[in-house]
Amino acid sequence: MNVLLLGSGGREHALAWKLSQSPILSKLFIAPGNPGTATLGENVDVNPVDFAAIKQLVITKSIEMVVVGPEDPLVKGVHDFFLADDDLKHIPVIGPTRAGAMLEGSKDFSKGFMMRHGIPTAQYKSFCSSQKDDAMLFLKTLKPPYVLKADGLAAGKGVVISSDLIEAEDTLNQMFGGEFGDAGNTVVIEEFLQGIEVSVFVLTDGDGYVILPEAKDYKRIGEGDTGPNTGGMGAVSPVPFANAEFMAKVDERIVKPTIEGLKVEGIPYKGFIFVGLMNVSGDPFVIEYNARMGDPETQVVMPRLKTDLLELLVLTSQGKLSEAEVEFNSQSATAVILVSGGYPGDYSKGKIVSGEFAIDNGLAFHAGTKYVGDKLVTSGGRVMACVGIANSTSSALEVSYSLASKIDFENKYFRRDIGKDLV
Ligand code: AMP
Ligand code: GLY
Repeated sequence: MNVLLLGSGGREHALAWKLSQSPILSKLFIAPGNPGTATLGENVDVNPVDFAAIKQLVITKSIEMVVVGPEDPLVKGVHDFFLADDDLKHIPVIGPTRAGAMLEGSKDFSKGFMMRHGIPTAQYKSFCSSQKDDAMLFLKTLKPPYVLKADGLAAGKGVVISSDLIEAEDTLNQMFGGEFGDAGNTVVIEEFLQGIEVSVFVLTDGDGYVILPEAKDYKRIGEGDTGPNTGGMGAVSPVPFANAEFMAKVDERIVKPTIEGLKVEGIPYKGFIFVGLMNVSGDPFVIEYNARMGDPETQVVMPRLKTDLLELLVLTSQGKLSEAEVEFNSQSATAVILVSGGYPGDYSKGKIVSGEFAIDNGLAFHAGTKYVGDKLVTSGGRVMACVGIANSTSSALEVSYSLASKIDFENKYFRRDIGKDLV
């Protein structure tokens, strides 16, 4: 079958890498893709939120399935667009409709959803901008650190945690004052959860589901988890504390009630659910849902999936996922992200990228790269993920770091402590 994958990051390169191994794939198209995906299929210069252009592409290339990588097209309703179009409605889209994508698109909705279905999460209250005085009063009743979340999508910058009340009040003023755009029209204020984070990935057809390998993401720019948040500086899978006992709790207390909750609320959901969890003394609490896979987590989850991904997605589209037999690789996978110096603040682009992009048991997934003529140059903050696969996390990390040392561009930066806390 012909498949169209939407997106252009490292997550999409990893998805394309896995999809391209499928015996049932005829041709893979990626819109817009990146230099990495171009080696696995045909990149097409179409914006994933330009639905009219996507329709054109799907028809001219006889696409038989659309896989959505990032959240933006989902929240903007790409799946709804297909369902409402007579020429497209028979083509399966992997990724929820707008209603399901609200799990990610609105923190207020997702917190309410968890409350309605008894899913463990931090206690909270949400306030709209006309309730600013109440929000300030509520803040004063809490103990620090204070967790403030702008309701809508804010490019990963919508969560502010401060240990100081004055600072938290300032943040609240900024959120209501429009500094987070429309995302801040409503603000969620919640209890701080103390623990270690882990990301759990679920593929569901709205009824059956499979839980994919878990991963740990390293969000801060600096070693020792310091400095500002980024899109993710590294990832490791498996995560030792997410053992069978912990994952059984995740399944019973979180995944099952989430799928059941979607059903009860009449929200059909065919796609990935990424559950960001906090392990609080052995008990999982949901920090957030995303309606897609994680980046850079996908870059370590896909290498650990033995089963054919496209076959799983076909079963998803047919509502037969409960029939799937899924096998995972017991090896470890690690990703170290190479970023442009200055990221997540200002950084320069257009730096020539050179070196080796694959070594024994290691490969680089492209993110912020592009070709200018025949030269590969940087085009974003996160440039590449150096992925290692080996029998232990420490050996996988050795491969990742060896690959990281073989790829060069001016002002290259990466964290040297990815996975150190786990080995
Ligand atoms: P989010 O965008 O919802 O993933 O939040 C960004 C980060 O803020 C998370 O990855 C956590 O590290 C942190 N965070 C969010 N909510 C809480 C909470 N209630 N308690 C502690 N940390 C949190
Ligand atoms: N790595 C976090 C995310 O994809 O949202």
